[in-house]
Amino acid sequence: METSDNAQGEVRRADETTAAWRQVDEGWGRAAVDFATLSEPANCREYVALHAELGVGAGDRLLDVACGAGLAVELAALRGASCAGIDASPRLVAVARDRSPAADLRVGDMHHLPWEDGSFDVVTSFRGIWGTTPDARWPRYAACSGPAAGWG
Ligand SMILES: C[S@@+](CC[C@H](N)C(=O)[O-])C[C@H]1O[C@@H](n2cnc3c(N)ncnc32)[C@H](O)[C@@H]1O
Repeated sequence: METSDNAQGEVRRADETTAAWRQVDEGWGRAAVDFATLSEPANCREYVALHAELGVGAGDRLLDVACGAGLAVELAALRGASCAGIDASPRLVAVARDRSPAADLRVGDMHHLPWEDGSFDVVTSFRGIWGTTPDARWPRYAACSGPAAGWG
């Protein structure tokens, strides 16, 4: 693998920062169906409660960041929202697409959202944004959701 020196003298693999998210599927995708059927349903009350708290309803454009197998997206769609989601695991996104074929569900890095600013009224993420999520990305989530958006 190629390496390069940056201005701070750090030596990094050439693909270290850009390709790290592509390795996520090795862990999360390995047992995608087990996750979707055995683990994710335990969080159902959390999804329902947050959607109710945010008043998600008909016509809302909702983005779920790190959407996993898409149960939260499915439940938001049942409330009438027009849903999108992004997750790094192709195998989890495949489950999500099977559940919600009308949703705009993409495989990708949540640190580089592929939607235009102001595309959403509501942005949610359930256990998808951790302490390691770069602070610099928060404004990007905000911009993507527009000034009057709901956050959860
Ligand atoms: C704890 S799971 C939560 C999944 C889902 N939100 C839920 O409630 O079940 C964390 C998720 O983050 C996704 N993930 C990790 N790093 C990511 C990245 N850089 N971009 C997009 N998704 C990522 C994983 O694939 C996994 O689906």
